[in-house]
Amino acid sequence: MGLFNNKKSNELPSVLPEHIAIIMDGNGRWAKKRGLPRTAGHKRGANNFRTIANYLNEIGVKYMTFYAFSTENWKRSKDEVDTIMELFKDYLNEALDRLNETNMRMIFIGDKSVLTDELQALMERIETESAKNDGTVVNMAINYGGRQELTFACKEIAQRVKNGELNPEDITEDTISANIFTKDQPDPDLIIRPSGEYRLSNFLIWQSAYSEFWFDNVLWPDFTIKDLNRALNDYANRQRRFGGVK
Ligand code: IPE
Ligand code: IPE
Ligand code: MG
Repeated sequence: MGLFNNKKSNELPSVLPEHIAIIMDGNGRWAKKRGLPRTAGHKRGANNFRTIANYLNEIGVKYMTFYAFSTENWKRSKDEVDTIMELFKDYLNEALDRLNETNMRMIFIGDKSVLTDELQALMERIETESAKNDGTVVNMAINYGGRQELTFACKEIAQRVKNGELNPEDITEDTISANIFTKDQPDPDLIIRPSGEYRLSNFLIWQSAYSEFWFDNVLWPDFTIKDLNRALNDYANRQRRFGGVK
C-alpha cells in the first residue's frame, strides 16, 4: 500500500502504541466558532473519525477505541442526540458494507439496550460478521461510561458468586478485567483528548490506570493526521515505568 513512500508515514516513529483511545471532543465548539448549529460539528467530527480510524488501521495500530457518546451525553437536546444517532447509523451502514474490505473487527462498548432496535440490529450484525476478521480491533464507545462498565462487571461477578461458581476470596484484578467490555484486549497505551479539556469524562477509568495521555487544544473536527503524528512521536519518547525502576 505504499506505506513507506507516504509522506505522512515518514513522520512516524518506529514504536507505536498497540492500543490508542481517542475522546472525540470539541464538535460543538467547532460549529459555534463558525456560526453553525452544533449538529454541523458532529457531522464534521464523524467524518474525521473515518479519516483517523483509516489512518490508524493503515499504519498498523492493533486496537483503537473511540469515545462517541457518553452515558452523560443524554443531557443534551433531543435534536442534538437524534443527529448523533443518525450519523452513527450512517456510519454503521457504511461499515457493514466494507467489513471484508478493511478486515477490521468492530466491537461496541457501552449499554446498547436503550438504543433503537434498528441501531441494535446493525451493531449486532457488524459485531458478528466482523468477529472473524483478524485486523485492527475498533471499539466504538456508544452510551458508554466507565462507571457504568464497572457497575455491569460488579453485577456479573456478584451473580457468579451467588450461583456458587466463584468464591469472593478468589476475585482478583484479572476477574474485573475479564468482566469489562474490553476483556481480552490490552489496556490503552495512549489516550488522546483534543479540544483543550484535561479530563477523562468517565472514559476507560479502569483501563487507563497506566495509560499515557496526550491533550491537544485543537478541536476534534480539526484534528489532523499531522496532529496525531505529533502525539505518536511524543509517545515514542516517553519512558513507561509501571511503578518500577528503569
Ligand atoms: C464531542 O463534542 C461529541 C460528543 C460528546 C457527543 P462535543 O459535542 O462535546 O463538543 P463541545 O465539547 O461542546 O465543543
Ligand atoms: C466526552 O466529551 C464524551 C465524548 C467525547 C463522547 P464531553 O463533551 O461529553 O465531556 P465533558 O462534558 O466536557 O466532560
Ligand atoms: Mg465536549
